[in-house]
Amino acid sequence: MKRLIVAAQFAAALLVAGCTEEAPRSEEGVDRSAASSFGMIQDRTSSSPAEALFVEKCSMCHRNMGMGTVLLGRRMDPKVAPLEDRDDLTADYVTQAVRVGIGNMPIIPRGEVSDEQLQQIAGYLAKGDGE
Ligand code: HEC
Repeated sequence: MKRLIVAAQFAAALLVAGCTEEAPRSEEGVDRSAASSFGMIQDRTSSSPAEALFVEKCSMCHRNMGMGTVLLGRRMDPKVAPLEDRDDLTADYVTQAVRVGIGNMPIIPRGEVSDEQLQQIAGYLAKGDGE
């Protein structure tokens, strides 16, 4: 019996040692760069207020691994399935898609994305307006 207890204590000690092993860290915390480059977690970075709004309201579906990116990739060149990689979108088209809904994309109401926020997001995505 005593042997069994010692064996159990040894196993527990091993487990604890395994759990306290440090994950690689960068200055901001855990280094997730490898995971991100393999597409396992989504890039949520932004460098402007409009891009930050896009990340907050749309990127869960329209950056990597998003349902929008996956579904759009079936009806167009997958290279331009992420909305941010398109150069043909107009602000009007983006606004219509959001307020009227398109295919499998649900309508996003004003309570979730205000007109002012949508204007900013549409401006960020619209490279087809010749701006
Ligand atoms: C719940 C997931 C989801 C969210 C959130 C979402 N979308 Fe979509 N979106 C989709 C899907 C899915 C499609 C593809 C529709 C289809 O083809 O069936 C799509 C399509 C689109 C299209 C049409 C592209 C084309 O070429 O026809 C635009 C524009 C668009 N979304 C803009 C946005 C914007 C802007 C936001 C944020 C305000 C947003 N979406 C948020 C899922 C989403």
